[in-house]
Amino acid sequence: MAKVFVFDHPLIQHKLTYIRDKATGTKDFRELVDEVSTLMAFEITRDMSLEEVEIETPVSPMKSKVLSGKKMGIIPILRAGIGMVDGILKLIPAAKVGHIGLYRDPKTLKPVEYYVKLPSDVEERDFIVVDPMLATGGSAVEAINSLKKRGAKHIKFMCLVAAPEGVEVLKEAHPDVDIFIAALDEKLNDHGYIVPGLGDAGDRLFGTK
Ligand code: URA
Repeated sequence: MAKVFVFDHPLIQHKLTYIRDKATGTKDFRELVDEVSTLMAFEITRDMSLEEVEIETPVSPMKSKVLSGKKMGIIPILRAGIGMVDGILKLIPAAKVGHIGLYRDPKTLKPVEYYVKLPSDVEERDFIVVDPMLATGGSAVEAINSLKKRGAKHIKFMCLVAAPEGVEVLKEAHPDVDIFIAALDEKLNDHGYIVPGLGDAGDRLFGTK
């Protein structure tokens, strides 16, 4: 079964408070999302594998550890996921970035894929799918379906704020995908917004309305 991790580090919680506050403008919102994404990336990469190398310090030879070079991929779900990419790349700059775009069909209300561009070596990479909001879970499930269909085997999902409904839907659909969250909120409202949430993440990131 998928594991759910809520990162309650004080720095993450502090920054998230200002992200949520409606008085926070676009510039600060964007910078704070970037900073929280970096902090979350630090936690989410805790299980990266290491290998031993021999080096010489100015004092003596020693065996020490370096990353074993596992290939990573970051997949923002368009468009709000883009706001989390640079913050993650600060810690894993060699990661490749793919994009998945989905829109909601007005009749079926189901997410429909309109854009997919992934690194060519999908099978060999460990992926982090990112979207600031896990609301109904529909987009996350569909984006991960899309990645798996193209051969991805190791996938994590990372968001800032999640609704319990979305977490359940994602866990059910993808029990092999662990979920990393900065805050688990109360519920979804009738318009599909997370309560208390932070509003429309895409609009707040890009200054649209
Ligand atoms: N998407 C958002 O941007 N905000 C929500 O609250 C839910 C979905």
